[in-house]
Amino acid sequence: MAEPVKVELGSVQQTLFIPLAGRARESARRHPVVRDPKAAEIVAAVDFDVEQYSQGWGGSITVLRTAVFDELVRDFLRHNPEGTVVELGTGLNTRFERVDNGRTHWIDLDLPDTIELRRRFFEDTDRRRMVAASVLDEDWLDVVHASPAPYFFVAEGVLVYLDETPTALARIAESFPGAQLVFDTYTKRMLDQQHKMAVKKNLAARWAWPCDDPRSLEPLGLEVVQEAAVTRPPAAVRSRLPRRFRYTLPVLKRIMGNVIAITLFRARTDTAHTPR
Ligand SMILES: C[S@@+](CC[C@H](N)C(=O)[O-])C[C@H]1O[C@@H](n2cnc3c(N)ncnc32)[C@H](O)[C@@H]1O
Repeated sequence: MAEPVKVELGSVQQTLFIPLAGRARESARRHPVVRDPKAAEIVAAVDFDVEQYSQGWGGSITVLRTAVFDELVRDFLRHNPEGTVVELGTGLNTRFERVDNGRTHWIDLDLPDTIELRRRFFEDTDRRRMVAASVLDEDWLDVVHASPAPYFFVAEGVLVYLDETPTALARIAESFPGAQLVFDTYTKRMLDQQHKMAVKKNLAARWAWPCDDPRSLEPLGLEVVQEAAVTRPPAAVRSRLPRRFRYTLPVLKRIMGNVIAITLFRARTDTAHTPR
């Protein structure tokens, strides 16, 4: 039997186990909303208590979030089959495995310790490469420019951990006019709830960037193209939902409103905005 893979990650980096555990658990279901056998393989291979990041029913929300992101990436690839998808804060995500069309180019970016772990399970190819950098750095922008346009930046469960997110968004918008970006945002109320939950579960990672209204980000050089939420998935996702979600989602929406906004933006091509 292979030696278990050691995990040496910072506290925010460890949160990659939240979506990973969710996808692994979901894949064991008879009608999964996301199928990810590799996530289950990774969970079994690491020397780490993944259970502490397993979220019970909340894991289904994370999986649904992933299904919405997958659909938006697929849609980009339908229109731009040879473009470049840049997965920011990729963790151990297997989106490429789920949506690859055999022609797309792909960059998986994350902090150095996460990329070191990721390299134990994934390999670079002629269309796909890993980049060790912070979203908040600038050097990686040139790596993206060297890959074929058009560009689609995807950040799932990442930007909420960074209080400097607006600066990073403005930089991407300015460097890649016309590019699309999709990311999830969390209200101040959800952020306060996460802090309480983190204290209770003794987790060090704290959300740092609340966003009550994704449209408020437009002055950064972005325009909203499409608005979705985990409780309001795009039609293509809604039509494929397993029965358990069809019943629970409307109830959740009624009780909590739109949970986890997922917004698709385009970086403006005019220069009328002033990036901050
Ligand atoms: C909750 S996990 C999400 C992982 C992945 N997007 C997914 O959905 O499976 C958060 C990820 O953000 C990454 N991250 C945190 N700060 C970052 C930064 N400054 N630059 C790049 N990645 C970062 C972490 O290493 C981790 O992989």
